[in-house]
Amino acid sequence: MTCKRTLVTSALPYANGPVHIGHLAGVYVPADIYVRYLRLRGREVLFVGGSDEHGVPVTIRARKEGITTQEVVDRYHELIKNSFERFGISFDIYSRTTSAIHHQFASDYFRKLYEEHKFVEQTTEQFYDPQTGHFLTDRNIRGECPHCHAAGAYGDQCEKCGSTLSPEELINPYNAETGNPLVKKPTSHWYLPLDAYQPWLEKWILEEHKEWRPNVYGQCKSWLDGGLRPRAVTRDLDWGIPVPVEGADGKVLYVWFDAPIGYISNTKELCDREPEKFGPWEKWWKDSDTRLIHFIGKDNIVFHCIVFPSMLKAEGSYILPDNVPSNEFLNLEGDKISTSRNWAVWLNEYLDDFPGKQDVLRYVLTANAPETKDNDFTWADFQARNNNELVAIYGNFVNRGLVLTQKYFDGKVPACGTLTDYDNEVISQMGQVKSQIESLLEAFRFRDAQKEAMNLARIGNKYLADTEPWKLAKTDMERTATILHLSLQMAANLSIAFEPFLPFSSEKLRGMLNLSHEQANWERLGHMDILKAGDVLGTVGLLFEKIDDAPIQAQLDRLARIKAENEAKAKEEEMKNWHPADIKTNTSIDEFDKMDIRVATVLDCQKVKKSDRLLLFRLDDGMGERQILSGIAQSYPDPSVLIGKQVLFIANFPPRKMMGLESAGMILSAVNADGHLVVTTVSAPVKNGVQVG
Ligand code: MF3
Ligand code: ZN
Repeated sequence: MTCKRTLVTSALPYANGPVHIGHLAGVYVPADIYVRYLRLRGREVLFVGGSDEHGVPVTIRARKEGITTQEVVDRYHELIKNSFERFGISFDIYSRTTSAIHHQFASDYFRKLYEEHKFVEQTTEQFYDPQTGHFLTDRNIRGECPHCHAAGAYGDQCEKCGSTLSPEELINPYNAETGNPLVKKPTSHWYLPLDAYQPWLEKWILEEHKEWRPNVYGQCKSWLDGGLRPRAVTRDLDWGIPVPVEGADGKVLYVWFDAPIGYISNTKELCDREPEKFGPWEKWWKDSDTRLIHFIGKDNIVFHCIVFPSMLKAEGSYILPDNVPSNEFLNLEGDKISTSRNWAVWLNEYLDDFPGKQDVLRYVLTANAPETKDNDFTWADFQARNNNELVAIYGNFVNRGLVLTQKYFDGKVPACGTLTDYDNEVISQMGQVKSQIESLLEAFRFRDAQKEAMNLARIGNKYLADTEPWKLAKTDMERTATILHLSLQMAANLSIAFEPFLPFSSEKLRGMLNLSHEQANWERLGHMDILKAGDVLGTVGLLFEKIDDAPIQAQLDRLARIKAENEAKAKEEEMKNWHPADIKTNTSIDEFDKMDIRVATVLDCQKVKKSDRLLLFRLDDGMGERQILSGIAQSYPDPSVLIGKQVLFIANFPPRKMMGLESAGMILSAVNADGHLVVTTVSAPVKNGVQVG
């Protein structure tokens, strides 16, 4: 198995925005580590990437930015491709699904399955906007949630209560963009009958691929247990690859049909361009001596483990994925990363903000990789891992070895003398690391593999701290020479061990040690004779630099700004998306009667100390005085304007304490057009305590 050639794919990112740390941690960093490792071992490998340029996300982006869809994909494809390059993701090809080769290839693929009757054609009623003449995708349909009755739930999900929905379930569905009411209209599409593949998939995955990661295996099992249904592979849209069948005008291939075919067409593009180097593309896709590995995020599991394999199986001449190492999600400072909410660390911005620090991000994302569960990226952790691990352990060790060699041995590798037990112990630990890292990487355990490499640096760092050659140099030059000799060999080993993970630093370190890639190749890992006594070292510099608080704070400030913007936008959205159909239905008069709403005059109103949200109201409620806290301070910079006003309040909420103050009820207020809250009042004076109803 280990000698087979390997085709590695990484999910094609949508060209609707830049890539962010979530994509990197989930897909591209592990894929790149794996590929670099295979290359270092001299295996035959091909690493395919590209942009996913079809689908609804890019069209939404185009409308938002007021440019054409083609302009969107051109812009982001370039940006993504370029930032991957700068970050050192070592694709053999990074192409795109709008390429002519891909369009032809995907179209032919569909046509073949069509001609062999691998699809079922079905006519269904879909939501249609008669005013715009468009069928709508689930995401573009909104309406009232059938479960929690929130307004503006999406056709696929209610963001208030989290239920998964289908557009049919929405109450009074409307076009999310125009607000137009929708009608149902028949349309026909081609379906891949996944149900027909179910028995085969069950055997292939559940019995023959028990070694897949538990999260992947588990998700497949639950899909299979739920019973597969036919899936439409075409859509009524004007952006995508036209369905190559007569009478299918206005229909395109579903993005999830064409995108994975992009792995194949991109391979073909590369092989056609460089046949001597890579051979014919079929070798990578149709030869059982090739292992196919898909790196993806967890939201892509069903497509890569169930849908795409069924497409490959339907065609009949392709190999199937050998493994699908999928990661869970990476959050950012406790919140889900989101392109549309700008809640992300964008790769291109990181590269600009932290020039030359590709490896720091690579290190942190792998150290904290969401391999088995969702994880959180925080800037504090980023800083700490850089300062306390890369700088204080790896960098410090290497630097001390090099600097001491310059100082005492004129920058030449000193000779090794008699070895102590401690020396031998360290040497033997070095000897084990190669097979440890290899077996972890073969098992896709990148986090643990990188930990082993770091452990090597820890061993070295401790060795120097324990042996203190800077003190010995005064009395015992021979012993000092031995210690530094071994330390430099360890540093050389580190440059090899970290090569798949931190390629930029390994190159830098080889430069300092004056070693060629050939001299420090993977096969030499664990050996203590990589350098020879008398070898001249290169120029010594810092391998890693400390990151201080200012740039970290700048990132935190940026996120705080985005959070504030998002909150304001959400409020605005809520008001904009209000639709007559959203009014909550089915509230009974009884429910309303339970609420005791009354009128009171504001006797006094002041800001609550240490709270920027709360106002403290003293009210005359007709029976005496009543105290209520209300979270509207930001809307009333001068709360005294409220004194003397009559307001509406709910009188029968149980009293509760906030900031140590008791609050007996709730003041009713409404949001005005600029997002501020205004208290509700009566249009003419009434007696305090009067009930509203
Ligand atoms: N664009 C998809 C996403 O970001 C991934 C496509 S992977 C492919 O979720 F297999 F379809 F290419
Ligand atoms: Zn809901």
